[in-house]
Amino acid sequence: MFRVRIEGGAEFGCSGDDTLLRAGLRAGLGMPYECNAGSCGACKVELLGGSVASNWDAAPALGERDRAKNRVLACQSVPRTDCTIKARLREEFRARDLPRRFRASLAAMRDLTHDMREFSFRVEGAPGFRPGQYALFDLEGVPGGWRAYSMANVDDGSGEWQFQVKRVPGGAGSAVLFDRLAHGADIGIDGPYGHAWLRTDSPRDIICIGGGSGLSAVMSIARGAAAQSALAEREVHFFYGARGPRDVCGEDMLAQLPGYGVRIHYHPVISMPSAIERDTWQGRTGFVHDAVREAFGDRLAGFEFYFAGPPAMAQAVQSMLAANKVPHAQIHYDSFY
Ligand SMILES: Cc1cc2nc3c(=O)[nH]c(=O)nc-3n(C[C@H](O)[C@H](O)[C@H](O)COP(=O)(O)OP(=O)(O)OC[C@H]3O[C@@H](n4cnc5c(N)ncnc54)[C@H](O)[C@@H]3O)c2cc1C
Ligand code: FES
Repeated sequence: MFRVRIEGGAEFGCSGDDTLLRAGLRAGLGMPYECNAGSCGACKVELLGGSVASNWDAAPALGERDRAKNRVLACQSVPRTDCTIKARLREEFRARDLPRRFRASLAAMRDLTHDMREFSFRVEGAPGFRPGQYALFDLEGVPGGWRAYSMANVDDGSGEWQFQVKRVPGGAGSAVLFDRLAHGADIGIDGPYGHAWLRTDSPRDIICIGGGSGLSAVMSIARGAAAQSALAEREVHFFYGARGPRDVCGEDMLAQLPGYGVRIHYHPVISMPSAIERDTWQGRTGFVHDAVREAFGDRLAGFEFYFAGPPAMAQAVQSMLAANKVPHAQIHYDSFY
């Protein structure tokens, strides 16, 4: 176990197979981060002393300028000696449920579409989690070892963590999940992480926006909103953006929630209909962020927003919300990569 000292403040232990970020969060510190996947840059810290190795030398969030200034990504950095770092801790990043590494056994799988699958794990020794959070999977043989997936269910104490995953063509991690994991398989999971959790103290109705692989995170939010008595009066509008009709999913799960069709509403949108689909598809077409704007126009600033999906969708949603003057504090997402 190495000691990591934060300049002018706290100190924590970090084993040689853990990252500075995850060990700091486990110690209850408000280490800044977002993706945990080397791509957003939110976790950059300055290495003042000691040495670290990176799980991903080519991580896109670390540029030449950062390296010249001795900055490292805390989410990819594993200590090789005791270290001193400069990091700006913030209360909002402190975990309610301290993340832990635990074992999980694959209890069930079901296909949601031709390339989306739900994986349900029985977990042992796991902490609690909030609707909308994500976990890291330790996947053998995958470059960098870890991949982030959002929980789709709510933590009801039953020891089940459920995930909805999209197969990425040529993707190493999703290939392991789809092609190598059999019923009963045992994997390591680390979590929970993420800041886009359900705010139960908000008085506002909720808009969930999921695109493709982002279904899971917002499904958890909708399920959480249905389960929380504090949110029993809130409307939930669930927008799901898919490429074509065969990619549309989620309605069967929402339909099981109390209040479906009354206060919980599903709005599928397809962006790339073929000529035939254009004639037969009854729902909305276009981009999901445009559909949200068209549906709510100048009422948008009155909602709480949760969204998840590929970077292009997330950026389009952010720009649309900013253009419509939705306060930053009402917008919750963790970037996907
Ligand atoms: C917060 C968050 C939540 C997510 N939730 C979901 C979800 O609920 N469902 C879902 O389907 N997808 C989700 N994703 C995307 C998921 O983590 C994977 O990126 C996706 O499954 C593709 O992984 P892959 O290994 O198949 O593809 P690959 O192309 O092999 O890898 C893609 C990603 O893996 C990481 N990576 C690649 N190489 C390395 C390396 N050498 N070292 C370290 N990291 C590397 C990078 O983040 C890269 O973007 C989420 C991502 C994030 C960040
Ligand atoms: S790059 Fe480390 S949290 Fe995103």
